[in-house]
Amino acid sequence: MKNRIVWSAGLTTGNRAIDLQHAELIELINALARLIETRYTIVEIMSALQQLERYVLFHFNTEENLMANSRISPLHVLRHVDAHQDFSKQIETFKLDQNLHSKLPDIVAYLVEWLSNHIMQTDQELVALCRKNMES
Ligand SMILES: [Fe+2]
Repeated sequence: MKNRIVWSAGLTTGNRAIDLQHAELIELINALARLIETRYTIVEIMSALQQLERYVLFHFNTEENLMANSRISPLHVLRHVDAHQDFSKQIETFKLDQNLHSKLPDIVAYLVEWLSNHIMQTDQELVALCRKNMES
């Protein structure tokens, strides 16, 4: 079970704005991960989750604007926006979880897994599609 995201080549999309935002997202998830090693409180988890959620919304907005402004496959857009919505809902569910405190390690593992996979697959595909579009 991975509980940190370490930046690797696979996470670089080549779109500078998106890469910088991903680095910030990774930092926010790793901040939550670092809490596990402390005697963390619910207030600390909630505050870290809220910061993450706020930045996630801003970031998804950036990507969705990019999608709206490029003529890429509507199927990609549909799936991508769906994935964003699912993730946002998941964060909301975590915040309401009665066992939030004891579940923190599992939540961090989920966030690490989801973001790594999402960047490496869906976001890489988005940037590649946009690039292909600009060439044609
Ligand atoms: Fe995305």
